[in-house]
Amino acid sequence: MATVSRTDLAFQQCIVPACGATYGVDEVLTACPACGNLLDVEYDWDRLRPPQSFEFFERKWMRRSDPAAFSGVWRFHELLPYAPRESIVTIGEGQTMCSPSDGVGQFVGMNAGRLFLQYEGLNPSGSFKDNGMSAAFTHARMIGAKRAACASTGNTSASLAVYCAVTRLMRGIIFIGTGKISYGKLSQALDYGALTIQIAGDFDDAMARVKEVSGKLGIYLVNSVNPFRLEGQKTIMFRVLESLGWEVPDWIVVPGGNLGNSSAFGKAFAELRRLGLIDRIPRLAVINAAGANTLHELYTNRGLRWNGGRADMAPACRYYDELDRDNRRAHTIASAIEINRPVNLNKCLRALEVCDGVVREVSEQEILDAKAQVGAGGLGCEPASAASVAGTKKLVEEGVIGRDERVVCILTGHQLKDPTATVAYHTTDQKLFNDVLGSRGVSRASYANRSVTVSNRLDEIVQAIDLYG
Ligand code: F0G
Repeated sequence: MATVSRTDLAFQQCIVPACGATYGVDEVLTACPACGNLLDVEYDWDRLRPPQSFEFFERKWMRRSDPAAFSGVWRFHELLPYAPRESIVTIGEGQTMCSPSDGVGQFVGMNAGRLFLQYEGLNPSGSFKDNGMSAAFTHARMIGAKRAACASTGNTSASLAVYCAVTRLMRGIIFIGTGKISYGKLSQALDYGALTIQIAGDFDDAMARVKEVSGKLGIYLVNSVNPFRLEGQKTIMFRVLESLGWEVPDWIVVPGGNLGNSSAFGKAFAELRRLGLIDRIPRLAVINAAGANTLHELYTNRGLRWNGGRADMAPACRYYDELDRDNRRAHTIASAIEINRPVNLNKCLRALEVCDGVVREVSEQEILDAKAQVGAGGLGCEPASAASVAGTKKLVEEGVIGRDERVVCILTGHQLKDPTATVAYHTTDQKLFNDVLGSRGVSRASYANRSVTVSNRLDEIVQAIDLYG
């Protein structure tokens, strides 16, 4: 047992209780040097004495001319108190909302008023990543980093690039798999001036490389193996609670890729309960795309569990060996979650234990139909985000989620992130449909809103409007 007793108010700690080694927040680590597992940011809550009531955070909104009070992340600074105020980096992230959607609720089979969408597409770079990036960037600034890197399926890179461009505090270096990220995201990274390195491979390859390169060159890594990033992502749950009048919903449903969000959500709820700010924890559903379903395979089919921190990881090792042996790669239209080796697997297992969670996988067809329904409800999202809605539909059909339970689906990224998938779904061009979607096993576009083609003649246009309008 390598437990060190610390006097710091905030510190890093190995997530495995049997190790429990601790490190200062001034250290830059992405794994426990003692045992190689993931790290948490931990706090001495007894001495920090955080607010006893959520109203404390509500009141901050009155002072929103202060950027740290305006930020939907730093408004909750007392619940992620690792950084001095003067180090805080914010570009106005976290102004997101959780709204009821009866249209989507009906689609998934729920009773009216019970389904909510937490729309993280409203963030400055258009995805939830900004919550975590402002937190990691703040830590990077604390330790004086001048360069920051990530591997990405697109959104982390867009987020890192925008923080670098707005603050000019660091040079951003991003690693992406060639042809593996959607144009909306690639265009952001290029426009914001990040050094963009496209490697011949997929996200899993890029992730392995960026770890190697950042270690070798001393570049600050902002992927979600960085425990400070997940501190920022906890605030998504704080804002969900805030939108619901501080009432705890029955379910949180989130897409699973690298499993940072699900891990952060579990930590958020465990801490809120420990601090006495909530008295119960919602259930968590993590939804994989069927073509990138490591968590589903390991958790649902092979019985892998956190087991109070004594997880037997042999099934995971065997599964990864099988992937290598068969040269199996992740493959899904939901490119944001096209990941076979989720770096936060262990933390996610812990979150599933804390939240009595379930894991499901959804097909490409289910993802795209759900995405069209989200769009029709007014808040478009990218394919990966729609996995949460498709997963909810499945869980309602199975009877795991009750029709009258209160469910929050996290819409992780904005609709404009991936126009290719959207246009291909709604198109009348059979070739385009086949190339983009048919090739992935999508056979129908049941909720397509097809454009009407007319010649440039007034009578024909008027006729079309009379007919379809
Ligand atoms: N949804 C979107 C839109 C994402 O961009 C990601 C991850 C996820 C869901 C999965 O979240 O990793 O916390 O389970 N995108 C990363 C990236 C991998 O590089 O942008 P997770």
